[in-house]
Amino acid sequence: MEHPIPRRDFVSTLALSGLALAASPSILRGQSVPSKIKVALIGCGGRGTGALGQFIAACKILGAEAEVVALADAFEDRAKRLNDTYKLPATKVFVGYDAYQKVMATDCAFVLMATPPAFRPVHFAAAVAAGKHCFVEKPVAVDPVGARAIIATGEEAKKKGLAVVAGTQRRHDASYMKNKALIDAGAIGALRGGVVQWNGTVPWIRRRAKDDTDADYMNRNWLNFTELSGDHIVEQHIHNVDVAIWFLGRPPVSALGFGGRARRETGNMFDFFSVDYDFGDGVRIHSQCRQITGTSGRVGEFFTGATGSCFGAGKMFGQKQVDIPAIKLDTDDSMVQEHVDLIRGAYNGKPVNDARQIAETNLAVIMGRISAYTGEMVKFDDLLKHEKSPYYNFKASVSPLDFEKGTVKLPTEAPSIPGKA
Ligand SMILES: NC(=O)c1ccc[n+]([C@@H]2O[C@H](COP(=O)([O-])OP(=O)(O)OC[C@H]3O[C@@H](n4cnc5c(N)ncnc54)[C@H](O)[C@@H]3O)[C@@H](O)[C@H]2O)c1
Repeated sequence: MEHPIPRRDFVSTLALSGLALAASPSILRGQSVPSKIKVALIGCGGRGTGALGQFIAACKILGAEAEVVALADAFEDRAKRLNDTYKLPATKVFVGYDAYQKVMATDCAFVLMATPPAFRPVHFAAAVAAGKHCFVEKPVAVDPVGARAIIATGEEAKKKGLAVVAGTQRRHDASYMKNKALIDAGAIGALRGGVVQWNGTVPWIRRRAKDDTDADYMNRNWLNFTELSGDHIVEQHIHNVDVAIWFLGRPPVSALGFGGRARRETGNMFDFFSVDYDFGDGVRIHSQCRQITGTSGRVGEFFTGATGSCFGAGKMFGQKQVDIPAIKLDTDDSMVQEHVDLIRGAYNGKPVNDARQIAETNLAVIMGRISAYTGEMVKFDDLLKHEKSPYYNFKASVSPLDFEKGTVKLPTEAPSIPGKA
């Protein structure tokens, strides 16, 4: 009873329990969701496999049946492994760095993109050009040029009425949505600052195999190369920085960060970052991320308001009683809910378009990385607007086109040294 649930919050709890779901199937089905929905996947790894299953589950919630019409991956073993589940004819399983183009030529209505992030700007542009609704896993870029390309493609998608949902599932999660609504209603006063963290371990390493080309080794071990992942501040910590940007309602103005590398065994990324994000108006968020196995972990967000404080999802301290609208979701699995929102928007005339939102968060984490790599203070507009900034035209040295053309050379430069980079 220390923190009583406001009455309308209680309604949202009921909605989540499935009662609302059972009560209004016609609303859930939307205006004109077709009975069959064709979908294709690019990137048949861990996340792609999950996203496809979640898309299928979302179709079911909306009263539709998903038909998987194509699978694409750079590597045959990856595509074949997933096709053990879906059993598509070989003519619908595309392999290679140009496999995405073949997906666009199919009659799928939706494309799910879950390759390493460096490829996203090119794949997203091709999908929108082909008139597909898009699920784009986060991150969507590894450099400012790529992030701005996402914004431009997102505008094209808007013109064509295409839905675009990004894999920032916290924005589709009832616990986060509830705290965001409570904060907006004044439960802890205006936000003044906070800390966002992803402190964990190195997720995985893939060693170079004897016959690997530079391209294949780099791509199989993508999670350890900045050129493909953006470094872990971009690849992983983007989730927590996204919550800060969402809750505050604006991207940061500048970043001053540091970081370093001592333990990582492959690739060229840092082990840790610490970034002071200045959101203007005296609001500061400290971002902290670390991938060092054997150290204390902590993942989440904590915000301080004028009269109280709270976790991104979870407990509030010093909370005032406020009334918030009921949060009505179709499922308590945020990674299914994001697909429900994608599909429903595609057919009800109000397509969701997350492109600018995810690109801005992506720029914010790239800004933090550049600041840590160089040791310099970096402004958000250096990446978004200031064409004369040294960072505006920064592009990773290995591009998606290099993979398609077969001209990838493994980066040999040592990781950045702040103050010298
Ligand atoms: N939202 C989340 O919580 C979450 C969780 C994990 C991963 N992710 C994101 O999902 C994406 C994929 O991560 P993952 O863990 O599945 O990695 P993964 O290595 O398991 O899978 C990536 C797949 O993409 C394939 N691939 C690489 N380049 C390709 C290309 N040009 N064309 C086609 N296929 C290509 C790889 O062969 C591999 O099968 C990343 O952007 C990652 O950050 C998001």
